[in-house]
Amino acid sequence: MAFQGIIINLFRATLLGLLFLVGDVSARANASGGRERTSLNAGWTFKRWENAPDGLSYDQLKPWILPGANDFIVDKSTWHQRPTNKPPRNIQYASANFNDSNWTSLDLPHDWAISGPFYDGDNPPVSGDGGRLPTQGVGWYRRTLSVDASDSGKQIYIELDGAMAYGTVWMNGNLVGGWPFGFASWRLNLTPYMHHGDNQLAIRLEQPLDSQRWYQGAGIYRNVWILKVNPVHIAQFGTYVTSSDVSTDSATLNLDVLVEHTGGDHPMTVKVATEVHVMDDSGNPGDQVGSFESATVTVAPTKKHSAHGTVTIPNLKLWGPIPSQKPNMHILVTRLYNSKEEVIDTYQTPFGVRSTEYRDDGLYINGERIYLQGVCRHDDLGSLGVAVHQPALERQIDMLSEMGTNAIRTSHNPPSSELLDLADRMGLVVLDEIFDAWNNPKMSNDFHLIFGDWAEPDLRSFIRRDRNHPSVWAWSYGNEIPEQGNQQGDDTSKRLRAIISEEDPTRAATLGLNNAGPGSGIIANIDLIGLNYQGEGNSDSGGNFDSWRSQYERMMIFTTESSSAVSSRDTFLFPPPDGNSATMDENGTGTDPNTHQVSSWGLWAVGWGASPDHVFAAQDSHPYVGGEFVWTGWDYLGEPTPFLSSRSSYFGIIDLAGFPKPRYWEYQARWNPNIRMAHIIPHWNWPDRDGESTPVHVFSSADEAELFVNGQSQGRITKGNLEYRFRWDNVTYAAGEVSVVTYKGGDEWANATVRTTGTASGLVLSAYKDRTSIAADGSDLLFVAVDIVDDNGDTVPTAEPTISFSIDGPGQILSTDNGDSTDLTAFPSTDRKAFRGKALCIVRANKGASGAITVTANADGFDAANLEATIA
Ligand code: GAL
Repeated sequence: MAFQGIIINLFRATLLGLLFLVGDVSARANASGGRERTSLNAGWTFKRWENAPDGLSYDQLKPWILPGANDFIVDKSTWHQRPTNKPPRNIQYASANFNDSNWTSLDLPHDWAISGPFYDGDNPPVSGDGGRLPTQGVGWYRRTLSVDASDSGKQIYIELDGAMAYGTVWMNGNLVGGWPFGFASWRLNLTPYMHHGDNQLAIRLEQPLDSQRWYQGAGIYRNVWILKVNPVHIAQFGTYVTSSDVSTDSATLNLDVLVEHTGGDHPMTVKVATEVHVMDDSGNPGDQVGSFESATVTVAPTKKHSAHGTVTIPNLKLWGPIPSQKPNMHILVTRLYNSKEEVIDTYQTPFGVRSTEYRDDGLYINGERIYLQGVCRHDDLGSLGVAVHQPALERQIDMLSEMGTNAIRTSHNPPSSELLDLADRMGLVVLDEIFDAWNNPKMSNDFHLIFGDWAEPDLRSFIRRDRNHPSVWAWSYGNEIPEQGNQQGDDTSKRLRAIISEEDPTRAATLGLNNAGPGSGIIANIDLIGLNYQGEGNSDSGGNFDSWRSQYERMMIFTTESSSAVSSRDTFLFPPPDGNSATMDENGTGTDPNTHQVSSWGLWAVGWGASPDHVFAAQDSHPYVGGEFVWTGWDYLGEPTPFLSSRSSYFGIIDLAGFPKPRYWEYQARWNPNIRMAHIIPHWNWPDRDGESTPVHVFSSADEAELFVNGQSQGRITKGNLEYRFRWDNVTYAAGEVSVVTYKGGDEWANATVRTTGTASGLVLSAYKDRTSIAADGSDLLFVAVDIVDDNGDTVPTAEPTISFSIDGPGQILSTDNGDSTDLTAFPSTDRKAFRGKALCIVRANKGASGAITVTANADGFDAANLEATIA
C-alpha cells in the first residue's frame, strides 16, 4: 500500500514531463523486470556544417551542461546549479517544426568524417595527423521519440556510449544537457521534457579543429540507448563488485548497489536482492551459484543510497587470461522489490573473479605471472572509422590474440564498452587509460581547455563504467602528460590518483611516463612505473631500466609504450640496417621519399623508439620488467610519421586493412612460440637484383635454421642470445625459390618457402576465417580479401591493379582498403588499387534479408572472381 502511495506522489513530481495515464505501474514493472533498455540507433536524420550554423557554442551552453556532471563530483558544495534563466531556445534544428526532409537518413553508430573525401595537398584544414578527413564542424542529428501509455510513470533516459564531441541533447526544443568529452559514456534524464505522443529529439555535436593528435572521428560513433525505469531504480553504473580471499576453493564477493530515487515527496524503502550466476555461452545468466543476503534501503526523494552485501561462494571458476588460464565470466542479477514484493528493477552486472598482485617483477593473476605481451590501440576500425562495429572489433582482437597478444592499452582514452566486453570474454588483460592531456595542451583545442571542469567527472564516470570488468588490471590516467615533471603535474597527479582510490581501491594506477625520470616527484603518487620508450632506450641507447630499479626496488616496472617501429606492408628497401635497430627519416633512410613508403624489415623506428629486436633484447636483459605495450598493434588513421602527406599511420604490426606486416611473425614467434611457424622476408621478386647481395631474414620460435636458395644451402645457423630473427645478410639473388628448414632442440620445427612468382594472372577472393555465411542482423560484417595471384596461386607482391568490387544480393559494400597509408581514395569507393598484391572489401547484409550475397572482384586483364556467402 505504502508503495502505491509513493508511486502516485512520484507521478506528481514528474507531472511536468509525463502528463498522461497513471495506470498500474507496479504490475507493469513486475512484468518487465522494471527496466527496459532499447537501442536508439535506427531512424535518424543528419546534417553537418563546417562552421557552426546555429550561433551556439560550448561556452555559451556550459551553464546548462555542467549540472549533468554533479553525479560525478564528490564535494557537493561545488555542484553546478542549472541557471534559473532559460537556455537558448528557438534553435531551428531542435524544433519539431523544422523540415529536415533533405537531410541524410542514417542509423547509428555514425562517423561523419570517414567517408571523406580525404584532403589532398599542402595545408589542409585537417592534416595527416588528423587523417586528412573532414572531422571539423558541427553536426545535428534528429529523430522523433514517441511515448505512449505504457511509459506512464517511467523515468526515460537517453544513454550515449560516446559522441564526438561537445554533445548537447535537445528535447522538444529544450536544452536537456550534454557532455563535452567525446570518449565519455553519459546519460541524461529526458522525462521532464517529454509529453505523450511524438517528441522531437535533437543532438548537436561539435568537433573543433586542432583538437586531435590522431584521427578521433566525429559524430555519434557509439551506441545510443533509451532506458525506461521506475522512479526508484538502480543508478547509472550502479553496481560495484569486488572479490577478496580468492582461491580455486572459494571467493568472497563484496557488492555495492546504488539505489536512486528520482522524484516524489516520500522516502521509499526497497529490498535489494542479488543472485550470482555463471555467464552462459550467449552472454546471459546461466546456472545460479550463489546469492547475497537481501538488504533493505530507504532512499529519500532525489537522493541515492547504497546497499552493501558480502557472500562467500565455494568453487567459483576464476577469470584469467589465455592461454594458460580461462576467462570464466559470471553475472550478478540484482532486483529491487517494493513492499509488496513486486520487482521494480532488474539489473545485470557481468563480472569475473580473479586475484591481482603487482609484484616487483610484474603482474600476477591468480598467482601466475602474466608477462605483458601488449599492444597499444586507438579506437578506430580503419576504413570503418571510429563507428563501433562489433565484428571489426572482434577481428582486430582475434588477429592480435593469434599473434600472442595478451594485453591491450586503450591509448589514450576510454574505449567502447564493447572492447572491454570482448577482452573479458576472450581473456585479454586491459590497461584502461584516460587522458592524453591535463592542464597543458598538446593541441590548441584539446582536453586541456575543459580539464578544470571535467577532469573529476570524466575520471569518476570512466572508472564507475569500467570497474566491474575483470579484464581491466590497472588504470592509466595520463599519457606523456606535458606537466609530468613539474609541481603542477605532481599536484594534479596526486588529485587524480586520490579520485581513483575513492572509486576503485582494488586496482593500481599508473601513467605513461616519457620525460619524468627516476626520482621525479610524480612517482610518489603512482603505484606502477609505466615507461614510454625510456626503459629500453632508442636505437642508439641502452635505456634506463636499471636506474629505475635501483631507486624503486619493490615497484612493478613495465613499458606502457614501446618500439614505434614503422613500416609499409611488404615494402623492402635495401639494405636493411646492419644492427638490430635503426632510426629512419623521411629523406630516404629506411624510407622512399618519392613513394612515401617505409621499409618493412621491422628494424626501422622513430628516433625515440626502437625495433622489436632492440625492445625484446632490453626486456630480456632486465627480467624484472613486467612486459610491454607496443606502439601499435594495428595501424590507425592519422599520425602518419614520417610522411604527413599520408592518411594513416605506419606504426602498426597489422596494416589498416587488416593484413599482417612482416613484424607480425616476429611477435608471434616470441609471444605465441608454440605455433609451428617460420616466415621468410623479403618476397623473392627482384628482377633488378640478379647477382646482388640480397639479405634474407626468417622469423620463427625455432633455435636453428638452414636457408636454401634454389636448393643451395646458405648455412645452418643458431639464433644467438638476445637475437630474435635468423639473418643471412649475404645471399646472392637469383630468381627461383627460397626455403627454410627450422629446428627446435635439434628436431625439425617448421618449414617455409617463398617463390619468385610468375605474372599476375588471377584474382582470388577469401573471407576472413573462411566464413561462408553472414547474419542479416544489420551489424554482422564479412571481410573479403582479394589476392592477385600467378598461375601457381602465389600472391604476386608487386601486382597492384585497380580492383572493382561489386555485390549481388541484399547487402552493401561499406568500404574498401588496401593498407597503403598513402592512398587517398575515399573509403566507400568500390574501386581500390591493390597494394602489394592485396586489397580488402567490407560487406554487410541488409537487415532482415535472406538468400545469398555474391561479392565480385574485377580488374582489367583478369577474369572476375566471386565469393558467395549465404545469409544465415
Ligand atoms: C608517443 C605517444 C603516442 C604516439 C607515439 C608515436 O610518444 O605517446 O601517442 O604519438 O609517440 O611514436
